Amino acid sequence: MRLYHAPASPFVRKVMVLLHEADAVDRVTLIPASGNPLDPGTLPVDRNPLGKIPALERPDGPTLYDSRVITRYLDDLLDARLYPAAPHLWDTLTLEATGDGIAEAAVLMRYEAHVRPEATRSPAWIEAQWSKIARSLAALEERWQSHLAGPLDMGQIAVGCALGYLDFRHADRDWRATHPALAAWHAAFADRPAMRATAPDA
Ligand code: BEZ
Repeated sequence: MRLYHAPASPFVRKVMVLLHEADAVDRVTLIPASGNPLDPGTLPVDRNPLGKIPALERPDGPTLYDSRVITRYLDDLLDARLYPAAPHLWDTLTLEATGDGIAEAAVLMRYEAHVRPEATRSPAWIEAQWSKIARSLAALEERWQSHLAGPLDMGQIAVGCALGYLDFRHADRDWRATHPALAAWHAAFADRPAMRATAPDA
């Protein structure tokens, strides 16, 4: 299998963490891919019409994209058991969507501040994206702590990768100051070998 990859992407990182947790990193060849909404660069537009990574080429079927499709596929293929059976599945998927939503808003903030031409940048739009993140962090702090403390699943991995991206690209926002329980959880989670091996500046 071939995975279109950029180490800074929190969505690629989710896939890589799954592969590490399943001891299956050697099952994929990493294909470097980079670009942005204004310039697709080497992003696999012929494999994913949305031009987004991760995208996973399979020997026995069409290329898969987005990260949630790829992680469900690999979880099934590798019997990684990072998605529990229903009814717990619905919580895992909702937590994964929360982590992915934080990561998506954080990536859009990065594009707005660094890719969009300076004259057309919107500070109000950036703050609207941060509002989504702030509400999600509050939900994680107040409502998701018992799930985060439970058995490893893809929801936790998505949240761990999203918080790692906040540290990587938006450290000035200091999310830990107002979310002590989430900060304590993340400190332990980020120490997992799979998370250390995939840290964006590793
Ligand atoms: C980044 O450099 O922040 C980045 C790279 C690829 C995908 C998303 C974000």
